[in-house]
Amino acid sequence: MSSALFTPYTIKNVTFPNRIVMSPMCMYSCEAEDGKATNFHYTHYTSRAVGRTGLIITEAAAVTKQGRISPQDLGIWSDEHIEGLKKIVQLSQEQGAKVGIQLAHAGRKAVLDGPIIAPSPIPFSEDRKTPEEMTFDQIKETIHAFKEGARRANEAGFDVIELHGAHGYLMNEFLSPLTNKRTDEYGGSKENRYRFLREVISEVKEVWSGPLFVRISADEYDEEGNTIDDFIYFAKEMKEQGVDLVDCSTGGVVPAQINAYPGYQVTHAERIRNEANIPTGAVGLITHPLQAEEIIHNDRADLVLLARELLRDPYWARTAASELGAELQAPKQYERGWN
Ligand SMILES: Cc1cc2nc3c(=O)[nH]c(=O)nc-3n(C[C@H](O)[C@H](O)[C@H](O)COP(=O)(O)O)c2cc1C
Repeated sequence: MSSALFTPYTIKNVTFPNRIVMSPMCMYSCEAEDGKATNFHYTHYTSRAVGRTGLIITEAAAVTKQGRISPQDLGIWSDEHIEGLKKIVQLSQEQGAKVGIQLAHAGRKAVLDGPIIAPSPIPFSEDRKTPEEMTFDQIKETIHAFKEGARRANEAGFDVIELHGAHGYLMNEFLSPLTNKRTDEYGGSKENRYRFLREVISEVKEVWSGPLFVRISADEYDEEGNTIDDFIYFAKEMKEQGVDLVDCSTGGVVPAQINAYPGYQVTHAERIRNEANIPTGAVGLITHPLQAEEIIHNDRADLVLLARELLRDPYWARTAASELGAELQAPKQYERGWN
């Protein structure tokens, strides 16, 4: 059997050497609270690149200071962040990986001193701060901040940009009727709730011509929330706008009990792929090589994203190749100990 997981995949001018993607994971490691990459980041991402991960998507990087989840988040709100990000990119690319960045704004889920902002003044939970409802000017400034983030990502040399539209952060808060109670053109109907993301995508595309992914939460685990059908509609809009891939996660919009089991989010990637006719990424409790192989081989998604398993095993691609009997070129320094 030839392995589908180890076939290259091309989007625009970028070819990923295989379908294995490191899912973005906040490392909360900017101890100086300045958003700048640290030695930890260089070691952490480069290890997964040496381990032959095809695409590494770095953790959520905040497009504004106020849009951080925590004070230790990675940032991309200033030109001063470019140098450190460029180093992550270069070190990982030297080892053969492609590198993406997730552009994010935490919205009402920011845990910071000072005011926080969201589409509507509703706290995530009783113990969280009530956000300020964004003014029209704040909406436009934030959209511009995403564009500036994309410009900096381009200058840092990233191969891919992923917009964080999932897990109840700002873009997701605009999409969801649970968190968006606005009565202006940014709230109400599906079309209006999509407007913020629409404008972010079109602004980003002015400065970014490379592969563009959007991560979504395809299930909000709430009867009043968006359904998969709503996300098929949103995904069609994204496709129309030139988004290249929808990364299908779930949850985080409101507190909810989630029944997570192996591959629990894969059906969303599959439905969106088939019904919106757009490439997708599958994520969530994908840990076994055969499971990942099955997803790609059966065309249920185009890429598989692994998060925690890649924390446990930075060489997971090698583990998978070995189990699947697939050819995987060793880093030349490791040739004597690879197979
Ligand atoms: C430590 C940690 C940090 C995370 N940070 C992010 C993040 O910055 N952006 C994001 O979209 N998802 C984030 N996630 C979610 C993961 O990307 C992934 O979707 C989730 O863990 C499910 O995949 P897994 O079962 O392979 O871990 C994080 C998960 C973990 C464990």
